[in-house]
Amino acid sequence: MLIERLKQIVGPKGWQTDAEALEPHLTEWRGVHRGNALIAVFPASTQEVAAVVEACHEAGVAIVPQGGNTGMCAGAVPDASGSQVLLCLSRMNAVRSIDPADFSLVAEAGCILSDLQEAAREHRRFFPLSLGGEGSCQIGGNVSTNAGGINVIRYGTARDLVLGVEVVLADGTVWDGIRTLRKDTAGYDLKQLFIGSEGTLGIVTAVALKLFPDPGQATTAFLRIPTADRAVRLLAHLRRELEDGIQAFELIGATAYELVQEHIPDAVSPFDSPSDWYVLLDTAIGPSPEPLERALAQALEAGLLTDAVIAKSEAEAGRLWRLRHSIAEAERRIGKGLKHDISVPIGSMQAFIEAGAARLADTVPEATLVVFGHVGDGNLHYNVVLPDGPDDDERLARKETVSRLVYDLVREMNGSISAEHGVGLLKRGWLGDYKSATELELMRALKRALDPTNTLNPGKVI
Ligand code: FAD
Ligand code: MLT
Ligand code: ZN
Repeated sequence: MLIERLKQIVGPKGWQTDAEALEPHLTEWRGVHRGNALIAVFPASTQEVAAVVEACHEAGVAIVPQGGNTGMCAGAVPDASGSQVLLCLSRMNAVRSIDPADFSLVAEAGCILSDLQEAAREHRRFFPLSLGGEGSCQIGGNVSTNAGGINVIRYGTARDLVLGVEVVLADGTVWDGIRTLRKDTAGYDLKQLFIGSEGTLGIVTAVALKLFPDPGQATTAFLRIPTADRAVRLLAHLRRELEDGIQAFELIGATAYELVQEHIPDAVSPFDSPSDWYVLLDTAIGPSPEPLERALAQALEAGLLTDAVIAKSEAEAGRLWRLRHSIAEAERRIGKGLKHDISVPIGSMQAFIEAGAARLADTVPEATLVVFGHVGDGNLHYNVVLPDGPDDDERLARKETVSRLVYDLVREMNGSISAEHGVGLLKRGWLGDYKSATELELMRALKRALDPTNTLNPGKVI
């Protein structure tokens, strides 16, 4: 019987069927979706993952891989049937090697992102992937979602940081693609298939990552901005003046900012009066804030901002970033707003914000818009909160109207309906409407080729 075989493979510490212990693994971070599992297994090695996958493949039982379960689209939780095996990578949390001279690191998939940042720091190296969930998300989940975060503007998304992957394929075969080469044109770049595939094409068990020279303590500034388009112009100005020394550049709308003040106890605004928009930025320009002060003074004169605070210490910078990183938590506390994790070309961002607000005001005047995001990447979290109420047919239809309105606008502006969170379960229904038939068929062909029995995370993405 499968359950007994799985228990044998992973040993007594490697499985859970107890309802209480399973609970945190069955509900996604925002509580939007809850599933059930036949069993949760916690393998401790690649060989154990491979044996689990082989056993499930032979038994015709589906597997849902789970990292830190911080994903935003219900990709890491099983369906409601209770027939799927949840495969949690958390016990595979070893850093296999760090090579400072090669600026590379090899780690198992279950390593917590902030632990890897720290491991790099101990060798005076920098691993730039950084996001609000970094204290609990895992590198395997980051790679499988092609996570973005705050430093994409300078270092790229997770995809740009991966040099190699080790993957267990749908029949249990292990592909050892761990290499730290910067150049390799010998055939197709297979690792790219698994990055961002949300556990539907293979289980990532280890990754080789790029490291960078330590840029030192960033200079952090928090700005009041009159309109969102000034943020785009300000970014261009600062990139020019600081010789591309911008490391993070985040836009925060007034509603998002107010939510944080209201719901996160120690989040305190450094400004006396409110603004419609704010920008939080980090620069990597060395220890002196002087070049940033000069560039911001020019921007103030040009009307690109109305006020600025530059952090005087690491602790103060930490407090400013806490304001930004708490937005997701503050949103979670007010309920289950409609999240739209979109991107448009940066030049279209202001037009998107204006047209979106106008169309939503016409269609759902009762809705509140919570807008923030990674403006330097053209990525906005364009979230819409409807007044509280039971999810009856009328409200569900209203939600669908809102999301369609947002996604239609994204399409008009040649954008994407998912910039960094992925598709998972929650956006799967939308993908068919916003990807071309050719793209969808190519995706299906890849899924059929790599997972012909639909064992890996079925029902997600495609
Ligand atoms: P999970 O949620 O466990 O899984 C995500 C998907 O990957 C699922 O489909 C799962 O099946 C699959 N998966 C997980 N591990 C593996 C594996 N080893 N092999 C194969 N498939 C696997 N995301 C951003 O991109 N940018 C942000 O700025 C950002 N900020 C966030 C802030 C907060 C406060 C929170 C809670 C989340 C944030 N996220 C952000 C979303 C989330 O943290 C990322 O998507 C993250 O990469 C998910 O990692 P995880 O380990 O939690 O993956
Ligand atoms: C963020 O940028 O804070 C995240 O992607 C999380 C979110 O969208 O809530
Ligand atoms: Zn984000």
